[in-house]
Parts: sequence; structure tokens; C-alpha cells
Amino acid sequence: MNEFREKLIVALDVDSAEQALDLVKLLSPWVGMFKIGMQLFYGQGPAVVEELCRQGVKVFLDLKLHDIPNTVAQAARVLTRLGVAMFNVHAAGGSAMMRAAVESSREEAEILGIPCPLIIAVTVLTSIDQPAFDRELGYTGTIADRVVAWALLAKECGLDGVVASAREAVAIRQSCGPDFLIVTPGIRPAGVTGRDQKRIVTPAGAMAAGANYLVVGRPVISAPDPVKAVRVILDEMGSSV
Ligand code: C5P
Repeated sequence: MNEFREKLIVALDVDSAEQALDLVKLLSPWVGMFKIGMQLFYGQGPAVVEELCRQGVKVFLDLKLHDIPNTVAQAARVLTRLGVAMFNVHAAGGSAMMRAAVESSREEAEILGIPCPLIIAVTVLTSIDQPAFDRELGYTGTIADRVVAWALLAKECGLDGVVASAREAVAIRQSCGPDFLIVTPGIRPAGVTGRDQKRIVTPAGAMAAGANYLVVGRPVISAPDPVKAVRVILDEMGSSV
């Protein structure tokens, strides 16, 4: 088994459960976790999550919860019941919201006697670049400063890690220590275009920066041969060490 398998998360950004299950079957030998985001979840509901968990597949449920603390706490409780390995909330929801998510997820996991999912805070989306950040979001300073500030807040609230670009991974690691998880989307193998993703990094670059997990969607699922695409990414991950 490839030594980088456990670090690779493939985004199942497809419409149907059938497509998702086919991709999982095809890619499982090389991919340690699969991400279900809004497209698949809003179309197919929790059934597809439950089916993958039932098959023993590790699921990262990427619904980016962002609401008042009570609403997020109740949603976190429900998502914990699904048996996912990881889910996320927006750091921009604030500390009360993040703490509420952690508390209710831990409570629910304890009641059910299951492991608590990893809870990760989304920082600045990898589709945002510095000009858009400056003009549209109303924050001052650099993206990296905001990402690190949110990472520290998430850590203080008891979250397990953050979603960020690998461009910020070194700064997050320096501030949050060796055990804090850094999940990096915006991964583009050498020569593949970013499209809507702006703060892109190659698989080798993300590994060198200390990312714990690399999230890859279109470069794999839209490839003519997804297995070949995954193997190229694993090779690139290995080339950094
Ligand atoms: O196709 P691509 O590789 O750009 O897919 C990246 C995946 O990671 C998408 O499913 C996207 O929703 C997700 N994601 C992201 N940036 C974040 C959080 C999640 O791109 N900050």
C-alpha cells in the first residue's frame, strides 16, 4: 500500500450516489479518505454518507457549517450520528459557534460510544486571492495573518485543525504546533490549471509545507483515467521527501 494513501482525500464532487460509490470502489486502494461536499450531500442526503460509513470508508463531510451556535451545535450532533471521520465549520462563525460544535459532537459521540469526528475550521477559502480579500471581505492585513489568527482561535476552541491553503501551512504549524491538523485543498499537480482555485500548491509543495491531508477534486475525478491521476499525485507527494 502506498505510504501517502492516508494523507490523500479525494472530493466526491458528483451528483449521484452511484458515481460516488463507483469512484470510491475504483480509488480506495490509493486513497485513505473521501470527501462529501454540498453537491453530493444536497442531492443525495445522508444516505450516501451512511452507505460509505457502513462500507468502512473514512468520510470527510465538508458542509462548512456557519450559523448561530445553537443551530451549528444541533447540526454537529446530527452529523456525528452519521459516523463520519471528519467534518468542518467556518472559523468566521466565531468562538462560541466553534465551541458549541465541539461540545455537542463530543457529547453525542460519547452517548453513542463512537469516536468523535475530527472537527476542522475552514479559514480563508483557497478560491480567494489577496486582491479579492482586500476588496471584498473587509478584513485588513494579509490572508496568511487571518488564517493564522483563525487557526489559533480554532485551537483554543478545541478544534482538531484547519482547512487552509498549503501556502499558509508553515505559518500555521509554527503557531499551532505539531499536533494541529492542516487540511489543504487547492492542490494542483504540476501543469494542471487552478480554474476557480487561486492559492494553489503542488502535491510536493503541500507535503514539504507540512500539510497533514491533501484534498483533491477535479484533477482526479475529471481526469480521463482517475487511477492514473491519483498515482501521479501520490508520486508527486513522495517526491518532496
Ligand atoms: O476540484 P478541486 O480540487 O478544486 O476541489 C477542492 C475541493 O475542496 C472542493 O470540493 C471544495 O469544495 C473543497 N474546499 C476547498 N477550499 C476550502 C474548503 C474546501 O476547495 N477552503
